[in-house]
Amino acid sequence: MKLLSGEILSNERYGDNLYRIEVFSPYICNNAQAGQFVNVKCSYDGSLDPFLRRPFAIFDIEKKFNVFSILYLLRGRGTRFLSLLEQGDMLDFAGPLGKPVDLTGAGANVLLIGGGIGIAPLHLIARIAVRIKNNVFFAAGFKDNAFLRWEKDLIRLKINYAVMTEDGSWGEKGLVSDYIWENLKTFENYDIYCCGPCDMLKTLQNIYKNKKNKVTAFLEEKMACGVGVCGGCVVRIKKGGKGFSYQKVCEDGPAFNLGEVLFD
Ligand SMILES: Cc1cc2nc3c(=O)[nH]c(=O)nc-3n(C[C@H](O)[C@H](O)[C@H](O)COP(=O)(O)OP(=O)(O)OC[C@H]3O[C@@H](n4cnc5c(N)ncnc54)[C@H](O)[C@@H]3O)c2cc1C
Ligand code: FES
Repeated sequence: MKLLSGEILSNERYGDNLYRIEVFSPYICNNAQAGQFVNVKCSYDGSLDPFLRRPFAIFDIEKKFNVFSILYLLRGRGTRFLSLLEQGDMLDFAGPLGKPVDLTGAGANVLLIGGGIGIAPLHLIARIAVRIKNNVFFAAGFKDNAFLRWEKDLIRLKINYAVMTEDGSWGEKGLVSDYIWENLKTFENYDIYCCGPCDMLKTLQNIYKNKKNKVTAFLEEKMACGVGVCGGCVVRIKKGGKGFSYQKVCEDGPAFNLGEVLFD
C-alpha cells in the first residue's frame, strides 16, 4: 500500500447520482488486483473535513493507459466532494488495499451477482475472469434503470448477463435473488462472487446454505483507517461449531466466504 496522488482524466456523470472517475496511476495499474480497493481523501488540500478517507472498489483497470476507475454513488459529503472534481485535478488516495481475490483458484465457471453499486468490485473480477475461465455470467439487480449505461461496459466484456430491476424499467422485473433462485440448476457448478445490500447477501446465504458452490461475498463496512489499525470495520466470521472471530473488512477482506459471515 502506498499514499498516492493521481491526475483525474475524467469524472463523468454515469447515471442518476452515479459517477465514474478515471485516474492516472501506473502504481495502481501495476500493483492492484481484483477485489482490492482504494481509500480516497475527500477534502481539499489543507482541509481535514471530512476527516476520514472514503473506501471505493477498483471498478476497472486499463493497464495500457495506466488508468484505473472508480464507479461511485452520491451519498454524503465525501462523494459530493468527489463529484465536484474536474479533469486535471489531483486525487489523493491510498492503495491498493484489502486482500486480492485469486481467480486462478476458482472453478471453470464463474457467476457474479451484484446488487446496485455492489456491481463495482465485481466488474474488474468479470474482466479478469473472462480471460481465464470458461463461462462467466453476470446477474445484476437494481431498483431502476439508473445504471443503464453500465450495460455498454458489460457488452464490451463479452460475457453473458441478466439484469433485473424492481420497477421493470430495464431487463426483467424482479429481484436478482429471485433470478438466482429460479436458475439454481443452471449455476450448479459455478463459483460465485457477490456484492450488494445486506438483505441481498442474507438471501443468497440462505439460498446457498446447503449447496456445494463456493460463494465469496464482498462486504462493505464504514471504515476509518482502512489498514487494520482502528478496528472500526470489524465483522463476525464463524469459527468452528458455534464460535466466531472478529475480522477486519479492510485487512482480512473485503472478500469473505458468505457461508461464514454472521449478519447482525
Ligand atoms: C471496501 C469498500 C468498497 C466500497 N466501494 C464502493 C464503490 O465502489 N462505489 C461506491 O459508491 N461506494 C463504495 N463503498 C461505499 C463508500 O465508501 C461510501 O459510499 C462512502 O464512504 C460514502 O461517503 P460519503 O461521505 O459520501 O457519505 P457519508 O456522509 O459518510 O454517509 C452518507 C450516507 O451514506 C451511508 N453510508 C456511508 N458509507 C456507507 C457504506 N459503506 N455502505 C452503505 N451506506 C453507507 C451513511 O450511513 C449515510 O446515511 C465502498 C465501501 C467499502 C467499505
Ligand atoms: S478501517 Fe480501521 S481497521 Fe478497518
